[in-house]
Amino acid sequence: MNQFKIAPSILSADFAKLGEEVNSVLQAGADIIHFDVMDNHYVPNLTIGPMVCKSLRQFGIDAPIDVHLMVSPVDSMIEDFIKAGASMITFHYEASHHVDRSIELINKAGCKSGIVLNPSTDINVLEYVLDKIDMVLIMSVNPGFGGQSFIESSLKKIEKLKSMIISRGLDVAIEVDGGINENNIRRVAEAGADIFVAGSAIFNSGNYKKSIDKLKEQLAH
Ligand code: DX5
Ligand code: ZN
Repeated sequence: MNQFKIAPSILSADFAKLGEEVNSVLQAGADIIHFDVMDNHYVPNLTIGPMVCKSLRQFGIDAPIDVHLMVSPVDSMIEDFIKAGASMITFHYEASHHVDRSIELINKAGCKSGIVLNPSTDINVLEYVLDKIDMVLIMSVNPGFGGQSFIESSLKKIEKLKSMIISRGLDVAIEVDGGINENNIRRVAEAGADIFVAGSAIFNSGNYKKSIDKLKEQLAH
């Protein structure tokens, strides 16, 4: 087996029974729960906040919760999500006025930290912070909505980022988010990704185990 991880995005789950939905995808083989936070300001949609993360913890979810902040400002939400039980927190490069400070806030709480790059954002913005973070989240759609199509130019960006990480001898995971399905996950892995977010491909499939198995099958050979 490999170190690849599948992270279902609960954006496409049924919010009326979120705890059960999360348990179902975990039983179906999910490794990480991807938690999309949107503020109708940084992105044109509104979702869930720290109270929901805390509720999932109280419900008994102990899997890693990967909080993807699509909010601006960033720092107060970082603090709230740390208290709410987040395992990893990523934020968009453009959404923080002081990227290094936001990273520091996450790191000093013992949480895993990461920066999110939009489809048009160059990896060179990572130059002075790559050694301070645990992961980079490459957006392969424009943030705000589930169910969009994978942007092909993301593959080249993942390859470039992988080389940058290797050439600097760092241990930084590459997470990819948006439009991932059984038809493209293999190419995303070959480009250098480690963690694969999938929302609609899992939650809209009708059979979580089958859809996660199909994604994993593509990664197995
Ligand atoms: C988009 C979110 C993604 C999205 C993934 O802003 O960050 O996590 O929900 O959903 P799919 O897999 O349907 O593109
Ligand atoms: Zn996301």
